[in-house]
Amino acid sequence: MILLEARDLAKRFNLEAGFFARFGKFVRAVNGVSLSIGEDEAYGLVGESGCGKSTTARLLVRMYEADSGAVRFWPRGAELGKMADDGSVDVRALGRRALVAYRSRVKYVFQDPARSLDPRMSVADVLLSGYRWSPSWPGRALALAEAAAILEEVGLSASDLERRPPEFSGGQRQRISIARALLLRPDLLICDEVVSALDVSVQGQILNLLIETRRRRKLSILFIAHDLKVACYFCDRIGVMYKGEMMEEAPARDLWKAALHPYTRFLFASAPGMDPSAGNDRAAGGAVTAASHEPRTDAWEGCAYAARCPLADDRCRSQRPEFREIAPAHRVRCHKADAAE
Ligand SMILES: Nc1ncnc2c1ncn2[C@@H]1O[C@H](COP(=O)(O)OP(=O)(O)OP(=O)(O)O)[C@@H](O)[C@H]1O
Ligand SMILES: [Mg+2]
Repeated sequence: MILLEARDLAKRFNLEAGFFARFGKFVRAVNGVSLSIGEDEAYGLVGESGCGKSTTARLLVRMYEADSGAVRFWPRGAELGKMADDGSVDVRALGRRALVAYRSRVKYVFQDPARSLDPRMSVADVLLSGYRWSPSWPGRALALAEAAAILEEVGLSASDLERRPPEFSGGQRQRISIARALLLRPDLLICDEVVSALDVSVQGQILNLLIETRRRRKLSILFIAHDLKVACYFCDRIGVMYKGEMMEEAPARDLWKAALHPYTRFLFASAPGMDPSAGNDRAAGGAVTAASHEPRTDAWEGCAYAARCPLADDRCRSQRPEFREIAPAHRVRCHKADAAE
């Protein structure tokens, strides 16, 4: 059963500063991205910095409004307004109140807990601030009891309610962010680089917390990461983005065994290494070493990856590949994918 589906999402930003501003250029941050997340599914969205992962996620919750494309959500009993025949609602058409209710079903956990948690507020107020405006607010006393229980669920304690975010370590602050999102009993958690700012040992603990939480609560998760191996360890299915486009999508196991896109292979080769078959011990290693890249700013007709691709030929530079299904549930945007395998 599908929970959330995005079709052909696109978002451009104007380049207001710098060299290109004079030419009225823009960045295609998200360029025709489609994906679906099933009930109980963990979907990994992976790619280097600037490829459009966060923008895609923000379009899903309407922190940004898309230029074009569709987002549909199957609310499983929640009241979100007008439903289509297939039981879904059109997220881009939700009014203010329905949008608040939708955002309690689909919760966004931010990359950087140091910045997303107000240092002057107590943990209790941090946890309750979003809940207070949700349709299911039960009153302060009950909400505090729920908050205490959730802090324990994420590995903190009820007595932490009185403390303030700066008193906690980075990993503990990420646990507070996760607790805040869970308080609304969402169907989908969007975890945007929730482990990348943490030490390697703490990353494993937070990943394990997410795995347990997901199992216990039957949560769906959109897991955004630049580390493909971590995503493969954690997720059921993976989408690989490059310059705003989806380049390859497959069940994590298939991608691990037989990545088809040259870019996915590059990511595997350059990732520091977490072997899904060997628990969650990570080998020592550097971060992704690829040169950072700019999203496309021109109406470039060829493959977005052509300039970096070792297999690129004239066709790759002049004709954008279709996103085609090459094996069951395995899609790839590459002219050379058959030849490459
Ligand atoms: N509000 C904005 N205004 C202008 N440009 C933006 C804005 N948000 C994102 N961009 C640009 O869109 C592109 C995609 O950014 P996005 O944050 O989605 O990438 P990302 O994959 O999440 O990267 P990271 O791994 O660094 O978080 C980048 O070039 C970024 O500079
Ligand atoms: Mg991001």
